[in-house]
Amino acid sequence: MGEETRRGPVTTRTWMMFASAMTLASVVGIAIGLAIEWFPAQGSSVADDIDTFWDVLLIASVPVFVVVTGIVLFCVWRWRMRPGEERLDGPPIHGNTRLEIYWTAIPTIIIGALCVYATILLLEIQEAPAKGTRVVEVTGEQFAWTFAMNEGGKKIQTTRIVLPIGEEVEFRVRSKDVLHDFWVPVWRLKVDAVPGITTKYSVTPTKTGQFQVVCAELCGLGHAFMRQFVRVGSTSDFQAWVSDMTAPAAPAPGGGGAKPDGAKLFAEGSKTGATACGACHVLAAAGTTSATGPALDKNLKGWDTARIKEAITNPAKEIASGYAANIMPPNYEQTLNAAELDALVEYIDSSVNR
Ligand code: CUA
Repeated sequence: MGEETRRGPVTTRTWMMFASAMTLASVVGIAIGLAIEWFPAQGSSVADDIDTFWDVLLIASVPVFVVVTGIVLFCVWRWRMRPGEERLDGPPIHGNTRLEIYWTAIPTIIIGALCVYATILLLEIQEAPAKGTRVVEVTGEQFAWTFAMNEGGKKIQTTRIVLPIGEEVEFRVRSKDVLHDFWVPVWRLKVDAVPGITTKYSVTPTKTGQFQVVCAELCGLGHAFMRQFVRVGSTSDFQAWVSDMTAPAAPAPGGGGAKPDGAKLFAEGSKTGATACGACHVLAAAGTTSATGPALDKNLKGWDTARIKEAITNPAKEIASGYAANIMPPNYEQTLNAAELDALVEYIDSSVNR
C-alpha cells in the first residue's frame, strides 16, 4: 500500500481553482442560455410569466450541469490510471456521511423551491375564467382541428378561427379518435385532447396576427401536418368575421344565387370546416407550394372530374406513390356542401387540365 495514495489529498488551492472554474463556466452558461431566443413572440397574457419561469429553470439547472460534469471530468483527470498502475487497487471507500447529507439536501431544496414556484404559476394560469367568457369548442381528429363557437345565438364551425384581442377565451378540447394536443406556441399554453373527456384552458390573446396551431402529441402518420392557423384581430375584425361566418349561405346554383368560388375554397377551405387544399398540395394555378400531399398538377393530370371528386371525398382509395394513406382528412363530403364540392372539382380540373 502507500502507492495508491502517493498523489495525496487535493490541496485547498486546487479546490479553489476548481470552484472558480465552475463559477465562471456557470456564469457563461447562464449568459448564453438567457441570450438565446427560445420561443416565438409572446402572444398571451400569461406568456411573459411562463418565459420568466423558463429563465429561472435555466438559471437553476446550468450550475447543476456544470458542477456535475466538472466533478466527473476533474476526477477522471486527477485519478486517472498511469503506466505501471494497472494492477493496483484503490483505497477502500466507506462512504462519507457529510457529503451524502449535502448532495441530498441541496437538490431537495432546489427541486422543492422550483415545485413551489411552478405550482403557484400553474394555479394562476388555471384560474377559472370569468362568467360569460367566450367558449370555443375544439375538436381534434386525425389530422385536423375543428373549432365551434356560438356568437349571438348562431353557431360557427370552422378550421380557421378568428378571435378578438384582449378578450379571454375558454377552449374546451375533445378528441374524436386518439390523443392529440392543442398548442398555440405564441400563447405558451397547451393541453391534451383526450378521447372521452373534455380538457380545457383559458387564455387572453394580447397580440394580433396569424399564429400557428400545432398538434403536440404524436397521433399518427399525419401528426406533423396537423397544423392550422388562428387569427387574432381587433374587436371590429372579429365582428366582421362573425357576421361573414353567420351570414346565410349562398343558395345553390340554379337557385339564382352566387356560385361557390372553387379557387377560394381551394385556398382557404370552407366556413363549415373543410381544410384548405392549398395548405398541403402544390397547384400552380393557385400558387401553393406545400409538399405535404401530392402535387396536383402532376398527379391529377388527365383525370376526369369524377375521379378528382372521388380523390377528395374518398382520399384513401387511390394513394399517390411515395405518400401515406390517412393523412388527408376524410371528411370533405361533410365539410363541403354539394355545390361547393362541384365548384372545387371544377376549379382543380380546369387548373390541372387546361
Ligand atoms: Cu394530432 Cu399529433
